[in-house]
Amino acid sequence: MVDLLLGLQWGDEGKGKIVDVLTKEYDIIARFQGGPNAGHTLEFDGIKHVLHTIPSGIFHKNAINIVGNGVVIDPVIFKRELDNLGKFNIDFVSKLLISRKAHLILPTHRLLDAASEASKGKAKIGSTLKGIGPTYMDKTGRNGMRVGDLEFDDWKTKYRALADKHEAIIDFYNAEIEYNLAELEAEFCVGVEALKKLTFIDSEEYIFKAQAEGKKILAEGAQGSLLDIDFGTYPYVTSSNTTAAGACTGLGVAPNSIDRVIGIFKAYTTRVGSGPFPTELFDEDGATMGRVGNEFGATTGRPRRCGWLDLVALKYAVQINGVTELMMMKADVLSGFKTIKVCTAYDYKGKKIQHLPYSIESEYVTPVYTEMKGWAQDLTKMSSSADLPATLNDYIAFLEEQLQVPIKIVSVGPDRTQTIHR
Ligand code: GDP
Ligand code: IMO
Ligand code: MG
Repeated sequence: MVDLLLGLQWGDEGKGKIVDVLTKEYDIIARFQGGPNAGHTLEFDGIKHVLHTIPSGIFHKNAINIVGNGVVIDPVIFKRELDNLGKFNIDFVSKLLISRKAHLILPTHRLLDAASEASKGKAKIGSTLKGIGPTYMDKTGRNGMRVGDLEFDDWKTKYRALADKHEAIIDFYNAEIEYNLAELEAEFCVGVEALKKLTFIDSEEYIFKAQAEGKKILAEGAQGSLLDIDFGTYPYVTSSNTTAAGACTGLGVAPNSIDRVIGIFKAYTTRVGSGPFPTELFDEDGATMGRVGNEFGATTGRPRRCGWLDLVALKYAVQINGVTELMMMKADVLSGFKTIKVCTAYDYKGKKIQHLPYSIESEYVTPVYTEMKGWAQDLTKMSSSADLPATLNDYIAFLEEQLQVPIKIVSVGPDRTQTIHR
């Protein structure tokens, strides 16, 4: 059976930390979508690691890590990640396997991303500019290059044809972006050589066999449900299915092989990039969340927008993914708030609703809040659920009752050890 771990909000919920915490229970950790737009942070032994493409189980000896077919790989960023792991003597050559069917991000995909965003002006998505959209467009347009292509001698011919086409499209945008393609291509080729040192596999076959042998597999999601290409706040989304179904297409796992669906959410909400965010705060409370929670993007360093927990959106994500258990992150960040607000309904065009409507832009939606008592205690040194303050337990009980799913972990700090099991 395969367990899934997914972000339920707009990404950065703390997926990396929890995958690292759970890896000891698994034989295989497999990323199924997204690419280096992701930034998954892990902290242990006083060191912080940020992974972009490589699954978050890589620091454990017991698990094999797989980059699945649904992922898009930039060899340049990938090499950088490998180099970082090398500094910590991580044996990635034997522990990291790459799907032949994963698509490659070319330097020109990154340039296309920049040109497309520049052409949008104020309506820009706020992309991480890692070339994600253009690469998935080439995938669905049936023009893409895949990891498996690198095993054939003619890959550079294929590369040239695609890159030339991209250059023509970049010209069409007429955007003011400066670049030196020869330099970018040289860097790309170095990345490709680093990638080729790893083992390429038919990952669907590998995972199928592993399941038959009774191996325990955890599928690691990137981004969050509200960034899903189908179910997110379109067009302010990413270009892959970040929801549970993405694990089926991104790894070749059949729906009836999925067991636990672990949903990760922050005790509040953040969003980086453009797009609607009903509970966003523009006041001192939002600034406090950002400061205490150190809310800066792990990939781009941009400040994350902060706001109260949105239960309407969270319920939607729980439903779409079939979440069987929840993990609440960053509870420590809310310590010190006298009152904690939770959005339990939307005022939508004058009517009170409890489902996510077609548009959640602020001109249509005003959040309706329930207020709860906060807690003053510092949670970061607590290690048992018996230590948690009564008002935090009330908050947890309220969320469980609203969502009808148990909260199994409360995270009280970025370190591996700051994790309370319930
Ligand atoms: P991911 O993309 O879902 O893996 O999340 P990110 O790594 O982008 O962002 C989560 C940030 O919060 C990282 O800096 C983590 O180190 C940090 N973090 C994770 N859990 C906690 C927690 O419980 N409390 C605090 N204060 N920080 C946390
Ligand atoms: P992890 O896995 C938060 C956001 C971008 C932008 C939109 C589209 O770390 O949770 P893209 O680069 O995909 O074209 O950007 O999606 N975004 C993320 N936000 N966490 C992420 O990943 C994200 N990946 C993309 O900021 O708004
Ligand atoms: Mg992140």
